[in-house]
Amino acid sequence: MATKVVLAYSGGLDTSVAIPWLKENYDAEVITLTADMGGGSGRSDVRERAIAAGASKAFVVDGRQDFVRHFVFPALQAGAIYQGQYSLATALGRPLIARYLLDVAHQEGAGVVAHGCTGKGNDQVRFDLSIAGMDPSLRIIAPAREWGMSREEEIEYGRSRNTPLDLGPRSPYSVDENLWGRSIEAGDLEDPWMEPPEEAYAWTVSAENAPDTPLYVEVTFSEGIPVALDGEEMNGVDLIGHLSRLAGEHGVGRVDHVEDRLVGIKSREVYEAPAATALHAAHRALEAVTLSKDQLRLKERIAQEYAEHVYNGLWFTALHQDLEAFVASTQRYVTGSIRLKLFKGRCVVVGRSSPYSLYLHDLATYDTGDRFDHRASEGFIHIFGLAGRTQARVQSLELPELGGGS
Ligand code: ARG
Repeated sequence: MATKVVLAYSGGLDTSVAIPWLKENYDAEVITLTADMGGGSGRSDVRERAIAAGASKAFVVDGRQDFVRHFVFPALQAGAIYQGQYSLATALGRPLIARYLLDVAHQEGAGVVAHGCTGKGNDQVRFDLSIAGMDPSLRIIAPAREWGMSREEEIEYGRSRNTPLDLGPRSPYSVDENLWGRSIEAGDLEDPWMEPPEEAYAWTVSAENAPDTPLYVEVTFSEGIPVALDGEEMNGVDLIGHLSRLAGEHGVGRVDHVEDRLVGIKSREVYEAPAATALHAAHRALEAVTLSKDQLRLKERIAQEYAEHVYNGLWFTALHQDLEAFVASTQRYVTGSIRLKLFKGRCVVVGRSSPYSLYLHDLATYDTGDRFDHRASEGFIHIFGLAGRTQARVQSLELPELGGGS
């Protein structure tokens, strides 16, 4: 009896060729799983194409709500941005696809799952670790890590097996997209000196081509979750889609940086994440008024740890759950609205309001009505301990003679 294998199938070249390859090399019965994670990359005919390529069954899941609710919004609440640049769209999507793979494997009684990742990127590790974290008894096959075929050889192989490949006009880039962002790499982007050409971008206009008038958008959060745009309540998927278009039209959300992959190489990565950029800016600004200084400081460190963890494929781990618990606790009062100004590639916070704001005008004002006791500040000298007694330990700062200025 053939081994049942559940393959994560995007419909692209690698995963299309993987269907006949698994059948031939592992004597497998191949069942495919395609998850629509938004962002517009999903094709309507994936199921037919998988079957035509030789799959015995083809599952297609709409993963958008699960993705937003269980991955995107928790990462937003955490403030998770890898290396200060990447809002983790691809990295957040992988553990959810892994979960769907596992569900189908259990449902179909399959002991093996497969994905189309190569041996050079982060995604293979994310799939592998996610699957192992949930069910270590499942065996994992990564055909593109094993077969050693060049792109041309893959095409040749697929054609000889009558696999629908639908190559279309060839994009010079490797692109992965979902509703939280679009990741672009390879091609001429591999030269880190060269500015990414306009054709690399699909969701954003350049700042030069953005409208000459700014757009103001109001984002309302409830406990760290965005719930309304300009006062209109929306579910997360719609809110992200809507904001993504608005911000993209104003050139917001382009990222160009050299990133450290977990496999140990530096790689030039370009991203478009208009909604993520705007929502992170808004969320951070709301936290600035609703969390204490000490909460903010620790949370920033947790955010880095959290981002690193997600990037490294460690979603389904105990530590991730611990980080999540800390973040959830911090979000209890992160409720209120933020006004954003989108203009020529920039997204600036220009207003904030919250029923839980810790900003007290009476204390902050320089005008009449100031209730801050200025004499209380005399006590701040104690920050240095008993200033008089430690003075002898302070090295004096040698300055040249003051010349002439008197
Ligand atoms: N560098 C990003 C990450 O590791 C994006 C990967 C994009 N994947 C792709 N096949 N283009 O999350």
